[in-house]
Amino acid sequence: MNILEFIGELVILHLHILLVTIEAFLIWMIPSFLRSKSLEGETMLITGAGSGMGRLFALKFSALGVRVVLWDINASAVEETAKMVRVNGGKAWWYTCDVTKMETVNEAAQRVREEVGDVTMLVNNAGIVTGKYFQDLKEEDYQRTMNVNSLAHAWTLKAFLPHMLERNHGHIVTIASIMGELVLPGLSDYCMSKFAAVALHESLLREVRAQRKDGIHFTLVNPYKIDTGMFDGARIKKSAELLFPTLKPEYVADKVVEAVQTNTDVVRTPFIFNIVVIISRILPLKAILLLEDFAGNEKAMKTFVGRRGQTVDEQAVTKIE
Ligand SMILES: *[C@@H]1O[C@H](CO)[C@@H](O)[C@H](O)[C@H]1NC(C)=O
Repeated sequence: MNILEFIGELVILHLHILLVTIEAFLIWMIPSFLRSKSLEGETMLITGAGSGMGRLFALKFSALGVRVVLWDINASAVEETAKMVRVNGGKAWWYTCDVTKMETVNEAAQRVREEVGDVTMLVNNAGIVTGKYFQDLKEEDYQRTMNVNSLAHAWTLKAFLPHMLERNHGHIVTIASIMGELVLPGLSDYCMSKFAAVALHESLLREVRAQRKDGIHFTLVNPYKIDTGMFDGARIKKSAELLFPTLKPEYVADKVVEAVQTNTDVVRTPFIFNIVVIISRILPLKAILLLEDFAGNEKAMKTFVGRRGQTVDEQAVTKIE
């Protein structure tokens, strides 16, 4: 290749980049209801559907005509979610499944295929938080957190993505966390697991693109602290809370529904975290640490209590029912 050809290629590349950036901006300007896809008749599997965000996703998506398949390790909790969906006139199926075991996931997936049909949308939502500092984190803590928050995503994807690829139709939703892009002391296992979940999502997206499967969409959800009880007690400085408010579950659920309807790639919420992520990639470490000190990050996890009565140890392994 001679130098002129190379320069020509670079010019075309830059024009192309400019074009898709303008396109993305124009699409973003259109009100979302004008570019929403119908979700009617889709079959969506939601993990961790027994409580918190998972339950809300079940209610919101089923109200849009989505058939929801609900998985949770807690049978009574997930059955309750299914009942709530049905009371609202939605279609729901529930299963107990420990998503940390690939074999269990495969068995449950097989039952879903037989009893419900093929899953066209997957919401990897189940997640746990230990909330301990490094010196107190045990081997089991690290392993459990990695198993639930990231490896489980790989198992459910292995179970459901191949069929989506065959039909070139599907949607993968990864509920990660802003802790998949930023870090906080006292959350080393959690951050590790969320960075891993983000990495899995991002690389898989590229593999699917390389296979030219443009009917499969990916939505990454990275929220800040949501008021579901999971992060109870964790708090940054009062003044910083003005900039980084704790989110209402309803608000986040609505954002995720909208993102799925509009095939949005990534949701960071509150919006300010889009800027924080950029800043964190540009400034030198010392400057970032000063900002974190200002926000009170160092002590944020000192007061953590989490979900009382739902500790990691109590969540025993459950077989499929
Ligand atoms: C399971 O869910 C029920 C109902 O939501 C709850 O009362 C119970 O504490 C949960 N069990 C565990 C082990 O988390």
